[in-house]
Amino acid sequence: MRCIPPGPARSAISFRSVSKRYSGSRDSVQALDDVSFDIEPGEFFGLLGPNGAGKTTLISSLAGLSQASAGQVLVHGHDVVTDYAVARRSLGIVPQELVFDPFFTVRETLQIQSGYFGVRNDRRANDAWIDELLENLGLTDKANANTRQLSGGMKRRVLVAQALVHRPPVIVLDEPTAGVDVELRQTLWQFVARLNKEGHTVLLTTHYLEEAEALCGRLAMLKQGHVVALDRTSALLAGRASTMLRFKLDTPLPPALQANARVTGRIVQIKTRNAAEVESVLATLRAAGGQPEDLEIGRADLEDVFLEIMHGEPAQTSRQVSA
Ligand SMILES: Nc1ncnc2c1ncn2[C@@H]1O[C@H](COP(=O)(O)OP(=O)(O)O)[C@@H](O)[C@H]1O
Ligand SMILES: [Mg+2]
Repeated sequence: MRCIPPGPARSAISFRSVSKRYSGSRDSVQALDDVSFDIEPGEFFGLLGPNGAGKTTLISSLAGLSQASAGQVLVHGHDVVTDYAVARRSLGIVPQELVFDPFFTVRETLQIQSGYFGVRNDRRANDAWIDELLENLGLTDKANANTRQLSGGMKRRVLVAQALVHRPPVIVLDEPTAGVDVELRQTLWQFVARLNKEGHTVLLTTHYLEEAEALCGRLAMLKQGHVVALDRTSALLAGRASTMLRFKLDTPLPPALQANARVTGRIVQIKTRNAAEVESVLATLRAAGGQPEDLEIGRADLEDVFLEIMHGEPAQTSRQVSA
């Protein structure tokens, strides 16, 4: 047995100053530029960013599919290049692209995959796990269908099953719900959330920010190969975005409120940071004799935060929002 060093090196995943440049015949692209962060065992971690931000490239660096130009990637302390086999065994990666060997059935595909990882030794336990995967991913009645006969959504389910067949402690999903139906999304998230509860680490990239907000305890945002935000989801929501207060008003807005307000006809929107500020706005309004109608208080969501960060607006520190 190799001795795994104690301390931070035991993170489920460590990206250390990872850079990647794709060199073409005419031009080259800096897809990742000095990306560093760790994901701890048991985390449900989200990697967000617009198209081309470098998410898939970062995930490929984990799989050893595309070697980083510089830096180091560790899985449970094992370098994905120098200690490839051990690192790879800890990972279950669901790739963004649907790639299959079209000659096998769903069950055969899973059996072959488990063979790669040498888990066929305990054949009975392995078959039971394959049955459980098929069941949980709604694939039981497709088990003997040829993979080339499956719809896109069904193929996506097989990819997920394939990634999980060797019971990897670290599960990595690259846009698993892109273009798939609501039913699969729900099935998939239920299952992945259960695996996370059972102790599996999850790294997810998604375009659906409401999914990331609901599922991920911590998030990193990538923009043009740089990490531009890294924090707990709750802290990102609290520290960046605001509570939005909306109402209709027939009288002029008191001068004290004008600085933070956006007025469109009768409709007034005021950015506030917390409940105390909401109360203070309403008190100022009342003191000036204003009578707000159709009052709504909306929490800014991850989409607002994402847009704010991607457009480079300065962050409010979490100190400013604690109340
Ligand atoms: N195999 C490749 N060859 C050349 N450029 C690539 C390759 N893969 C990705 N890129 C480029 O690297 C950047 C990051 O891409 P990618 O990692 O796929 O981003 P994301 O997954 O966030 O959409 C993009 O500019 C993309 O065009
Ligand atoms: Mg991608």
